[in-house]
Amino acid sequence: MREVAVVGLGYVGLTMAACLAARGIRTTGVDVDKEKLAMVERRTSPFYEPGLQDMLSESLRSGHLALTADCEEAVGRSELVFVTVGTPSNPDGSINLDQIKAACTNVGSALRKSPRYHLTVIRSTVTPGTTENVVKPLLESGSGKTCGSDFGLCVNPEFVSEGRAVDGTMNPGRIIIGEWDSQAGDILERFYAGFCDGKMPPVLRTTFANAELIKYANNAFLATRVSFINSLANLCERIPGADIELIAKGIGLDPRIGPLFLRAGLGWGGSCFPKDLRALVEFARAKGEGLPVIRSAYDVNEFQPLRAVRMAEHLIGSLRGKRVAVLGVSFKPETDDTREASGLVVIHGLLREGAEVTVYDPRALQNARAVHGEKVRYAQSALECIEGADCCIVVTEWDEFRKLTAEDFVKRMRIPSVVDGRRIYDPNLFKSKARFAAIGLA
Ligand code: UDX
Repeated sequence: MREVAVVGLGYVGLTMAACLAARGIRTTGVDVDKEKLAMVERRTSPFYEPGLQDMLSESLRSGHLALTADCEEAVGRSELVFVTVGTPSNPDGSINLDQIKAACTNVGSALRKSPRYHLTVIRSTVTPGTTENVVKPLLESGSGKTCGSDFGLCVNPEFVSEGRAVDGTMNPGRIIIGEWDSQAGDILERFYAGFCDGKMPPVLRTTFANAELIKYANNAFLATRVSFINSLANLCERIPGADIELIAKGIGLDPRIGPLFLRAGLGWGGSCFPKDLRALVEFARAKGEGLPVIRSAYDVNEFQPLRAVRMAEHLIGSLRGKRVAVLGVSFKPETDDTREASGLVVIHGLLREGAEVTVYDPRALQNARAVHGEKVRYAQSALECIEGADCCIVVTEWDEFRKLTAEDFVKRMRIPSVVDGRRIYDPNLFKSKARFAAIGLA
């Protein structure tokens, strides 16, 4: 199997590097952040991702995974280079390509020094046209070589979800290859055939621009589904006897719709949906297209977290001076990631209303502290968090919160009142014992 370099060790890159190494591929992970490299060298994952820590330790121990800050060195000895750097938002929402440009400049100079054919694969999420109009010229000018004849270039978006990134990387559900020419596409397809070892998923080969847009379309579609169900959840709250869970189940039985991504809640967050929707809308605006459906999905999501604050007020009146417990601050379970998490918005809204906030999350307290500092209290367990509280808001559907019973709340809270922002409790079990409100429930 060929040697591989992975440039950019964020969620996607580090998981990918560890997974490639675990399959016996000699992999070099590259990052400019020396502190992060040192941490990974010490066999510690810089973020929580189930299964990743063990995989990293094993890959480093076996020697299949090496780490360096020297991009040129890593690229020089690799036939395949995956670029997995971040593409954050500019203040106006458009995509920021600084990391892509820096990485491709380094890859370009490495190509200049190497006599061999290398394939560069853009795995970062980039707007249509970026690979052709930004990446390719940088690689060509940096290397003094020609794309196609001297080196290969592909776009290969990833679709892994945080919390399931290891499994998603080890067993990709599909492989999208945007290729400059068929030689490059063939090499990448063969690489995946070896990596997937007989369990090759569907492969779609296409142009750079199509592959780039598939990634945005994917995220925009899923985010729109969630905003769609959240809009209807808000309507359900005004219809006696209505319950969004049943509406979602009912429409999910239609095979044309399907059941996934129809869980109503306090909105979507994380490192992808918000920034990618912003980038897509801004990209389209510059092309003269409004994308009203996707813009609305984004707008719905802006207001969704604050519904929890309104529900808390509905249950216990003014929040001024009241003690509110917030369960969960990561943007979803099984991650410590709080980027654009609904929980941060909820906490902010509660503080604005004058509430005294206590937060608990099994993994994300450190990240929450980095945002809210000493403005809130941090509990060491869910039970400690709700102790003496006047209201509790469930923001993230961690399994350990599902296990709490109505009695747990009744015994510990000053006023037993629960806002279920993720529909993890059976309303019938809670309504008779506590003040109870839930997203999408009349
Ligand atoms: C997403 C995409 O799923 C993945 O393909 C892409 O590569 C990166 O972005 P991720 O951000 O890890 O992955 O999380 P995902 O599981 O998709 O959830 C995104 C957000 O939507 C979370 O805040 C989640 O709580 C919310 N969500 C999801 C809902 O509110 N309801 C649902 O039914 C599904």
